[in-house]
Amino acid sequence: MIKNILRTPETHPLTWRLRDDKQPLWLNEYCKKNGYTGAKKALKELQPNEIVNLVKTAGLKGRGGAGFSTGVKWSLMPQDSSIHIRYLLCNADEMEPGTYKDRLLMEQLPHLLVEGMVISAFALKVCRGYIFLRSEYIEAMIHLRRAIKEATEAGYLGKNILGTCFNFDLIIHTGAGRYICGEETALINSLEGRRANPRSKPPFPAFSGAWGKPTCVNNVETLCNIPAILANGVKWYLNISSSEDKGTKLMGFSGRVKNPGVWELPFGTTAREIFEDYAGGMCEGLHLKAWQPGGASTDFLTADHLDLPMEYAALGKAGSRLGTALALAVDNTISMVSLVRNLEEFFARESCGWCTPCRDGLPWSVKILLALEKGKGQPGDIETLEQLCSLLGPGKTFCAHAPGAVEPLQSAIKYFRAEFEAGITSQHFDSCIAINGIQPNNLLTQRW
Ligand SMILES: Cc1cc2nc3c(=O)[nH]c(=O)nc-3n(C[C@H](O)[C@H](O)[C@H](O)COP(=O)(O)O)c2cc1C
Ligand code: SF4
Repeated sequence: MIKNILRTPETHPLTWRLRDDKQPLWLNEYCKKNGYTGAKKALKELQPNEIVNLVKTAGLKGRGGAGFSTGVKWSLMPQDSSIHIRYLLCNADEMEPGTYKDRLLMEQLPHLLVEGMVISAFALKVCRGYIFLRSEYIEAMIHLRRAIKEATEAGYLGKNILGTCFNFDLIIHTGAGRYICGEETALINSLEGRRANPRSKPPFPAFSGAWGKPTCVNNVETLCNIPAILANGVKWYLNISSSEDKGTKLMGFSGRVKNPGVWELPFGTTAREIFEDYAGGMCEGLHLKAWQPGGASTDFLTADHLDLPMEYAALGKAGSRLGTALALAVDNTISMVSLVRNLEEFFARESCGWCTPCRDGLPWSVKILLALEKGKGQPGDIETLEQLCSLLGPGKTFCAHAPGAVEPLQSAIKYFRAEFEAGITSQHFDSCIAINGIQPNNLLTQRW
């Protein structure tokens, strides 16, 4: 039985305003439903540093995947008001396969994002913001454009916002369709019109970001959390979830489940509850073989892990990551080798090519996986894949693209090794030794 969600402002700060007909909420309706209350409070009653402290105390963590404290990130921006040019960038690139949460917010609640950005910009003393939008999100672009126009005409954007001396302009910038543009420093390069390679850190964007100026990059969902924190207060926010991660999160399940979708749920909701009660479990005749908790770049878990709470620490302890919290269900008819080959092809194609381990290592993994898929793998292939996972792991490449890319691979081998072994041909191995007289270890050099 699929659960029906009763959305209220207290329990569903992000989605309680959603219309049943899935149409966007324009300014009138948004304002009737308490829209811009948080912005009014922020601009008229609070100082920028007070807002930064509120967000820090609320324990809001970035919803772009890494889960870093938003308040701490904001407090890294220079306090010195004499630095007039600084930027707020909204990361709306959302190209992680299986992730579609920011899309929902931008298509149906565009004013929530605009309000979140106005408050954040005021807190960070920023006069110009950009929404870096995935170019395929055409509907989101149209709806955001209209929301920005409406907000400007109503005095929520532009000069002297709400009669104060605060000015803030918001611009939509559509990307050219690369996954790496979601990495915050590659995003900055792309926004500046450069090739989208990640930049070295330090300097961090808070000191030298877009056009060398202090810059804060936040995810769409992160920014959409801000209005309710201002309007309802920190105490309310701290009590929404009983988990150590505060507030709600857009969570979902896709794959061959009965009711794929995205729902706003408190942190700590178990994966089983989402899978069974909201997604309705697997379609008839199928059973769950594996799942990824938060996008294509998170480690696979198995059906035995379904009782885990959807929280950063719990999933980390289980050997995966919360990521974007949009889970993918893998059913028993799917070959893990083929699935991982497909994912690694995507990651190899999306590598920016800046550093060697990622540029060369990911295509190498694809070649091996293709061979295993065709039953033409060679002894030592699985060990080579494992070695690649280690060589492309955290801290070994210039950015987090490669470590994320190998997470599905390393976990698929860990839980489904037999499927990889089944792709190794013993015939080829025997004939190589017989014909060439070479040792198994040298086979790698022979082939690649
Ligand atoms: C390869 C790669 C792709 C990323 N894609 C996105 C993305 O599409 N959206 C996003 O918000 N963050 C993405 N991130 C994370 C960003 O670099 C950054 O941490 C995030 O935008 C910060 O926002 P937050 O603090 O609000 O989470 C990506 C990171 C990497 C390494
Ligand atoms: S890890 Fe990959 S995407 Fe990141 S800088 Fe290196 S080559 Fe580019």
